[in-house]
Amino acid sequence: MARNEPGERSAKLKITDLSLPDTAKEIVIRSGIIDLYPPQEDAIRAGALDGKNLVLASPTASGKTLVAELCALKHIVEKGGKTIYLTPLRALANEKFDEFKKYSQMVKKNGRRVRMGISTGDFDSSDAWLERYDVIITTNEKADSLLRHRAKWIDEISLVVADEVHLLNEAERGPTLEVVLARLMQVNPDAQILALSATINNVAEIAEWLKAKYITVEWRPVPLKEGVLFQEEIQYRDGAARRIDKKVKDPAMNLALYTIKTGGQALVFTSTRKMSVSFAKKAAGEIDTILTKPSKRAAEHEADRILATGERTRISESLAELVRCGAAFHHAGLAGGHRRIIEDAFREGKIKVLTATPTLAFGVNLPARTVIVQDYRRYEPGYGWYPISVLEYKQMAGRAGRPKYDKAGEAVLIAKTSDEADYLMESYILARPERIWSKLAVERILRSHVLATIAADYAHTERGLYEFFGKTFYAQQYDVTAIKSIVTKILKYLYDEEMVEVVGENINATTFGRRVSELYIDPVSAVIVRNAFKRKPEYLTDFSFLHLIAHTPDMEPIIRPYSSEYDQVGLYMEEHKAELLVETPDEWEDRIDYEQFLGEIKTAMTLQAWIEEMTEDQMIEKFRVQPGDLYRAIETAKWLLHATRELAVLFNHRQAQTHALELITRTEKGVKRELLPVVKLEGVGRVRGRIIFNAGYRTIEDLKHANLEDLVNLPLVGSKLARKIKEQVGGFVKRETLEKLEKAEEFKQKALTEF
Ligand SMILES: Nc1ncnc2c1ncn2[C@@H]1O[C@H](COP(=O)(O)OP(=O)(O)OP(=O)(O)O)[C@@H](O)[C@H]1O
Ligand SMILES: [Mg+2]
Repeated sequence: MARNEPGERSAKLKITDLSLPDTAKEIVIRSGIIDLYPPQEDAIRAGALDGKNLVLASPTASGKTLVAELCALKHIVEKGGKTIYLTPLRALANEKFDEFKKYSQMVKKNGRRVRMGISTGDFDSSDAWLERYDVIITTNEKADSLLRHRAKWIDEISLVVADEVHLLNEAERGPTLEVVLARLMQVNPDAQILALSATINNVAEIAEWLKAKYITVEWRPVPLKEGVLFQEEIQYRDGAARRIDKKVKDPAMNLALYTIKTGGQALVFTSTRKMSVSFAKKAAGEIDTILTKPSKRAAEHEADRILATGERTRISESLAELVRCGAAFHHAGLAGGHRRIIEDAFREGKIKVLTATPTLAFGVNLPARTVIVQDYRRYEPGYGWYPISVLEYKQMAGRAGRPKYDKAGEAVLIAKTSDEADYLMESYILARPERIWSKLAVERILRSHVLATIAADYAHTERGLYEFFGKTFYAQQYDVTAIKSIVTKILKYLYDEEMVEVVGENINATTFGRRVSELYIDPVSAVIVRNAFKRKPEYLTDFSFLHLIAHTPDMEPIIRPYSSEYDQVGLYMEEHKAELLVETPDEWEDRIDYEQFLGEIKTAMTLQAWIEEMTEDQMIEKFRVQPGDLYRAIETAKWLLHATRELAVLFNHRQAQTHALELITRTEKGVKRELLPVVKLEGVGRVRGRIIFNAGYRTIEDLKHANLEDLVNLPLVGSKLARKIKEQVGGFVKRETLEKLEKAEEFKQKALTEF
């Protein structure tokens, strides 16, 4: 079923027309939605509320989430079933959770309120507590780990929502979604499947795999004009053209300035982080003068919020400077807290020009009147330059046009020559998005899925394995024999490494194999860790363990050495050779291996600096590692240290058990060992923890006896935190003392602001 024009419909479907409980409809209407958007209407008419499997492919912001919400409500009320809502990103899971929460006011038949739950962290748990929830929102990776733990409530799932299903095409994360969907179809063949997608070329193929009908609707809430800007003229797809006033040399900047002057906001996609910062800087210089006084004040307020959030670094300072002038940049190097402030401020119209690397195009709901694609190429460390896909371009372009604020949205690609202008028109604006291809049959990726299939009892024989992988999207698109040969090779590896054993026809997981599957790590990582336990290095240090986890394939190469650092990192490696738990490669034998190894050493050095309390700003200077990257490396490190500890328990390596356990908390908090007692307290992080410790409060006992006034007077502590600390350590605080302190602090604050 496909429809391009919304014109031919009969009567418009309204929320009140739907066969849903009145309370549910009331909540939707109260949120401001009265009529259904065309894609929603088509989905309902195609049987979304009657349990039909459906793939809904429609543009960005065309309201796909609401279809999922309505379906989920139907299941809760009429079937008493559970919904699992799969998203590709944690940020997206949080966004969906916020949208679903409003239905918690609803009451189920049995008299209890409807429960919405979210679970995205900790890959080593079955999260039995989720049993109580009616809708469970997760990331694809978390769902995969829950399936490996055979969470009991999975059998109760009656609706599977797969959001952004075009992700199947992504090399790293597509296969996880593919296996999760295949697994859920295997476990609950009767569950309804609702897959939501951007418009893609082969929806029919995905629908066939999911045994679903499909709907493609090219409808958008705000009309979109697409064009190419060369020098001063935009050429639109319908042949029309428009001139843009030339104020500065850069055409992209002229278009951004024009957008702001006419009351809109511009979102500029750049190819690299560096470009995003430099464009935002130039934009700030230009727009500062055209901001109205109230806009300027609002922007200044946001800038101050950035400075007051998290650790102060040269990046947060330069970001705050730009925000003060109404511009900002957004990329994966930013700390999470700063990124959220930017996103909210842009949504609220306080930032006029936002530059971003393409990571933003994916999922985050940030519309702007004009989307400018400054460069159709993208730079990926380790790969180099390549042109973005049509699908990616369409995702970026789809951000153009804010419902309720803009009559139309505009997406404009920037051309440097007139030939390039023709090329961009042909290859992006007039082109159809690519087909989606499964990326499952790669040994490195399939390894853990093969082990999980056996370890979690989804198959017991080689035939059972082929049967399962024969039902994947890969098998449908290609040929099951291609995947068979890889599965056979993996089985041999798992057998040789004692993760599975063979009894007659049956293949069973060993205790080791089962634990590895639950820990959600690559079997190769587990083998590296197990073999490390057999070694007897001269010294067993923090660095030994940090390097060990950096050496596993599960530590993505987030932190890379620059070629100018090779000598320094190589030297560090030589100096610390006696601590390493793995063999070092020969510099002259295999250069690629050697450079990769230096990457692992640098990752470990960075993590070590973090737990030695180097500040984020010092880390930017010393390692050129930005806070966002550091945070991602820390998250992965915590998970791998947990796996290391669990394997140490399994293999009875006492020293590794205690050392890894301590490193988990130190990595989480970024502190030296001596700070551990203090940072256990809620509200006390690495910076405040150090202040408290240096003031002489080294243990909980010290804090119990501390004078409240002394605590309040410590830098960055204040009465609120001091009181919270006292409550946690069990110290007694007199009400009068507290009131007196709060008053004094208020007075101090007031004096400061007036000054
Ligand atoms: N029928 C409706 N009437 C008015 N607003 C609506 C309606 N349906 C959805 N919306 C609003 O439209 C916005 C975009 O919806 P949604 O996030 O579901 O888009 P989407 O199709 O999932 O896009 P993406 O591909 O970017 O994920 C939301 O803010 C939502 O509240
Ligand atoms: Mg969506």
